[in-house]
Amino acid sequence: MAVMARHCPDIRFIVADIDAEKIRAWDSGKPPIYEPGLTEVLAESLHRNLFFTTDIGPAIDQADMIFVSVNTPTKTFGEGAGYAADLQYWERTARTVRAHARGPKIVIEKSTVPVRTAEAMEYILNQGGQPWRFEVLSNPEFLAEGTAIRDLEMPDRVLIGGADTPSGQAAVAELVEIYARWVPRDRILTMHVWSSELSKLAANAFLAQRISSINAISELCEVSGARVQEVARAVGMDSRIGPKFLEAGVGFGGSCFRKDILNLAYLCRYYGLHVAADYWEAIVRFNEHQQARFVRNIVHRMFNTVVGKRIALFGFAFKADTGDIRESPAIRVARCLVEERARVVVTDPEALDNARRELVDVADRVEFCSDPYEAARGADAIAILTAWRIYRELDYRAIFRDMVKPAFLFDGRNLLDPREMYEIGFNVFPVGSPPLVHG
Ligand code: UGA
Repeated sequence: MAVMARHCPDIRFIVADIDAEKIRAWDSGKPPIYEPGLTEVLAESLHRNLFFTTDIGPAIDQADMIFVSVNTPTKTFGEGAGYAADLQYWERTARTVRAHARGPKIVIEKSTVPVRTAEAMEYILNQGGQPWRFEVLSNPEFLAEGTAIRDLEMPDRVLIGGADTPSGQAAVAELVEIYARWVPRDRILTMHVWSSELSKLAANAFLAQRISSINAISELCEVSGARVQEVARAVGMDSRIGPKFLEAGVGFGGSCFRKDILNLAYLCRYYGLHVAADYWEAIVRFNEHQQARFVRNIVHRMFNTVVGKRIALFGFAFKADTGDIRESPAIRVARCLVEERARVVVTDPEALDNARRELVDVADRVEFCSDPYEAARGADAIAILTAWRIYRELDYRAIFRDMVKPAFLFDGRNLLDPREMYEIGFNVFPVGSPPLVHG
């Protein structure tokens, strides 16, 4: 909304949420999340045409368009538990909109939802006996964390799905006009609402599939002596495949990929398409395998025991340039190492508070430390779990000096030059290429 408000100074944007603490933070100009460039963009329109409130009823009533961005986590109970999307927040929001609206509204699905959710929501919205209609559009979000502002400013495409009715098409046209203020028209795709909903799930599934594919190759590289980065380069230079999203590592994290793929698999199963469901699910299973084998490798390489050994985890965020740790591979790595009775030290430039909260039940066995040099001091091993640029620029000679010998380096993001690290003295274990171990 901050990016939209910047491009549409004549439109009033009201962001309403039930979480008073978050609203207070946004309203004070300090976003409660770390995202490069966001504070500056927010400052441009805050209190000009961008407002934050917990007063949801009036915000609904005043609006012509309502973007619904409530969370749709994986269901943890009942039918579809562990797979299907939990739509309780969406449905509750639809009922809230219906209760407070005193005129027609265009309701826009921003949350990632299963196919045909808009249809169900439109049904709920229009069952209030009111003399007007609510139009529901699908407008999925494709931004990635860490690059959110750039992705919103210059999206590869904007998707707007609507019903094939005249009122549905009129609503689509209204939303197109907003995006057209800064997005080239040929990048604004309009389509049927179900196609739009499915495109979002499909795009995330394709992205995650690339990561699991290259990670599957990385496992083969490690045993065969091939190097995954060389293979990725060769494969990615085929213009039909392309070079992006082929970085092998400790596995993908983030709040979306796992959830969306399991949701896609569930949809397939719901329609009896079990082979298709198995196909998509395998992407998630392989990702779990990649994370598990990374930890197994640490234990195995450190002479099958890490009991009492100090292991510094460089990075806890699920990717660089964010403080978000949802589904971060670091969670699993930290927990497994704690289980193995290692002395785990976590460092991260932005995610340390979140890490502390996540590991609260094992807090007595984990140390948190903002300075990577301090984290590595006296450590037997470093495991790089997030590709923060600062970790590339550290003085690894100094770090090596202060570590217990032999010093191990498990580079879960292939961030460092293995040869260089080996020459400093580390035993180096990259993902997807042969280890470099001193004799
Ligand atoms: C992802 C999609 O990229 C966005 O297009 C989408 O809008 C978003 O989910 C969403 O549905 O909300 P995000 O999860 O923020 O965005 O981050 P990504 O850049 O996709 O990274 C996801 C994970 O994959 C990270 O853990 C990252 O380290 C990992 N990754 C990425 C790799 O392991 N290798 C790669 O080559 C690329």
